[in-house]
Amino acid sequence: MESIAISRKSVLLVGASRGLGFAMAEEFLARGWNVTGTVRGTARTRLHELSDRTPERIEIETLDITALDQIGAMRSRLATRTFDMLFVNPGVTNDPNETIGEVATEEFVRVMVTNALSPMRVVERFCDLVAVDGLIGVMSSGQGSVANNTIGKREVYRGSKAALNMFMRSFAARHSANRRTMVLMAPGWVRTEMGGPDARLTIEDSIPNVVSTLLATLGKPGLHYLDYLGRPVSW
Ligand SMILES: NC(=O)c1ccc[n+]([C@@H]2O[C@H](COP(=O)([O-])OP(=O)(O)OC[C@H]3O[C@@H](n4cnc5c(N)ncnc54)[C@H](OP(=O)(O)O)[C@@H]3O)[C@@H](O)[C@H]2O)c1
Repeated sequence: MESIAISRKSVLLVGASRGLGFAMAEEFLARGWNVTGTVRGTARTRLHELSDRTPERIEIETLDITALDQIGAMRSRLATRTFDMLFVNPGVTNDPNETIGEVATEEFVRVMVTNALSPMRVVERFCDLVAVDGLIGVMSSGQGSVANNTIGKREVYRGSKAALNMFMRSFAARHSANRRTMVLMAPGWVRTEMGGPDARLTIEDSIPNVVSTLLATLGKPGLHYLDYLGRPVSW
């Protein structure tokens, strides 16, 4: 019998080893997409286990987003590829109780470089691998909203996500003539290693909705700052 080739949509998912990024890999797979996911270093991760079960639909790349040489090397490896979606998920936090007056300079730099500068470097270097009508997404946070910050706390983390939002707005302004959709995603407060056990949402509450929101926004050019239920977040 003649085999029928299925053309699947594809996502390049940066930071898919665990937590929300891994859950997004599982969800995209369940929705019929092929996933190229990245991990750091050489250790086996949950993404490797998922890939063992569906090797033909998951590819694993290695990337520490703070390492410029690794961004360049991965860009070269993927030079001939086109993805329907690029989603940049990685993020870190410092001690959430530390105020901006207390944080050590190195810790401030670590959070800002990982959460604001490095995701944008990935977006800048990989954007042309995204289909002209595709989607470029970055994991922001509701805590990145300046307008909604009425209680303080998590000051450095908030600042890093607000900076990420601003950099993404500049990127979008520079690319306003193109048809790609851009999304800053606020996934809600979710029980992961970062979110902690007291978080309001489970991964199952958040991630299927995050993916549905991305799929519903695909094809709507411009920059959207949205929560996991697809609601606009105030800048
Ligand atoms: N959980 C929440 O409540 C919440 C709320 C709003 C926004 N977010 C955002 O959602 C994203 C994922 O958070 P999470 O809760 O899943 O956190 P998590 O469980 O701590 O996972 C963090 C992920 O980021 C990766 N990562 C960290 N630094 C990296 C780097 N330099 N290069 C490449 N990958 C790196 C980690 O990879 P390794 O496994 O190699 O460490 C891991 O895959 C973050 O951007 C976070 O700010 C989370």
